Amino acid sequence: MAIIQIRRQTANTMAFGLAFVATCVVHAQDVPKGKAAEPVEAVQAAAQVCATCHGADGNSVTPIYPGLAGQHRAYILKQLQEFKSGERKNPIMSPIAAALSPKEMKSWTDFFSKQKPKPQAANNKALVAAGQKLYRGGNSASGIPACAACHSPNGAGIPAQYPRLAGQHAEYTAAQLRAFRSEERANDANRVMRTIAAKMTDQEMKAAAEYIQGLR
Ligand code: HEC
Ligand code: HEC
Repeated sequence: MAIIQIRRQTANTMAFGLAFVATCVVHAQDVPKGKAAEPVEAVQAAAQVCATCHGADGNSVTPIYPGLAGQHRAYILKQLQEFKSGERKNPIMSPIAAALSPKEMKSWTDFFSKQKPKPQAANNKALVAAGQKLYRGGNSASGIPACAACHSPNGAGIPAQYPRLAGQHAEYTAAQLRAFRSEERANDANRVMRTIAAKMTDQEMKAAAEYIQGLR
């Protein structure tokens, strides 16, 4: 029921958002190209459709909704396409992505990837040290590689393959790691994250997620 409501709401707001974008595109021709021309339409449109959960500028303030600001284009697009195709499943995002045309997906991807991520802080200092150790050095005893090798030492990731993690909500990150471990999330090429998550304890997931939230 709740999902159906979200779906209906999204469809309505999307229609509004798109009408707004269409209007702005016409007006944009009068505006000099560059910094000033683009954000108005994009910010307004994002506020209509995705902002409720991901924040108007892609900096989500709700721990279960991932921040999207500054995430790599290729990664965002891949996730939207895979929510739509069913390769990644989520009761909230799947119907939303299913309603997006390829063109809309590209617009959202462009918009969110260009937003500036706001640095966050870790809440649980006790976990941060263990998280840092795992992130930078892995756990050789259990065969966990250093997260930094792919997601980069500062968590900015490496486009196009490896997503940005820095500043992401710990709750979301830990939930994704558990989803990879249980194979509920299975859209990682070559099982790379499922293989790593399978070796992680709950405590390691929490620690890594906490460290990542404060990473900048
Ligand atoms: C009602 C809340 C809600 C709305 C509205 C919403 N999302 Fe999401 N979004 C979520 C949730 C929850 C997740 C995490 C899904 C999961 O756990 O796999 C998510 C995940 C994502 C991801 C994957 C992020 C990552 O780091 O892997 C992308 C990309 C995304 N959303 C884009 C969008 C776009 C674009 C829109 C607007 C067209 C949108 N979302 C609207 C709730 C929402
Ligand atoms: C060998 C490279 C590699 C290593 C090492 C690695 N990752 Fe990943 N990770 C990936 C790839 C590739 C993806 C993107 C999967 C996809 O396409 O959806 C990913 C995705 C993720 C995501 C999902 C991000 C999101 O926004 O939903 C999280 C969380 C994550 N990794 C955490 C970690 C942690 C924590 C470690 C260290 C314990 C780690 N990764 C080590 C390659 C790696």
